[in-house]
Amino acid sequence: MTDTTRPGASERPPVRTASPRRFLMCRPSHFGVSYSINPWMHPEKPVDGERALAQWTRLRDLYRELGHTVEEIDPLPGLPDMVFAANGATVIDGKVLGARFRHAERTAEGPAYLSWFRDQGYSELLWPEHINEGEGDYLLVGRRLLAGTGFRTDPRSHAEAQEFFGVPVTGLTLVNPEFYHLDTALAVLSDDEVMYYPAAFTPGSRAVLRELFPDAILATDEDAAVFGLNALSDGRHVLLPESATHLIGELRRHGFEPIGVDLTELLKAGGSVKCCTLELRGH
Ligand code: ARG
Repeated sequence: MTDTTRPGASERPPVRTASPRRFLMCRPSHFGVSYSINPWMHPEKPVDGERALAQWTRLRDLYRELGHTVEEIDPLPGLPDMVFAANGATVIDGKVLGARFRHAERTAEGPAYLSWFRDQGYSELLWPEHINEGEGDYLLVGRRLLAGTGFRTDPRSHAEAQEFFGVPVTGLTLVNPEFYHLDTALAVLSDDEVMYYPAAFTPGSRAVLRELFPDAILATDEDAAVFGLNALSDGRHVLLPESATHLIGELRRHGFEPIGVDLTELLKAGGSVKCCTLELRGH
């Protein structure tokens, strides 16, 4: 039997279609690196605020050019990491699971994001019992929620998310502190495809990923080191750090349209494309 889903040397990759998305982003007006809660953050090294804003603006405009809707939440002073909107909540079927941060430096972001949703008229909101850092650790693939743990999100949050959303949750354990959130080690490409960096996971979690996604694109050490997996796909276009050249080639081979972006100023805080983007599903 020939496997037509896997593009071989002679086979054509599948035709990809984009679906319009709704995103929430937070302008990096107060962005900076004044503390260190992950190995990428070096407060002694300078950050160019203007450059960060220009890079972020380019990403937001790209989404709009691709036909997506981008909403913005007002950035708050004293919360330099608030630009990483992915961490602000998890939204599925219009239901909003609030974020409860691991580090004191970011705890005020949880209520700030949750009240944005309340103000927008979202009615099914849950202030969580357990620590979870939103879409940093929760990634929806089709109707399955992949759930990271190991550094930030408490594994007890996984059951809380499953009960709240009513979708199956699959836990995955991260082991490398440089890839402290699931969205730094794995990216969702379509309803049943992902790309990931195996070395970021425990052997058991790697086996689960192989079982669920036998044909997944695997990132090299070089891809991972430039945050290539911190990517956002609309089903056709995949926005990712432009220096992830191997992944860009692989995505093209699989029929996607990779779009390289420069978010190197934001990388100084340990974030890139996906971290800046929270998907608003159903509402
Ligand atoms: N400095 C932030 C932190 O360590 C970066 C968050 C990146 N966000 C993400 N979704 N991975 O919490």
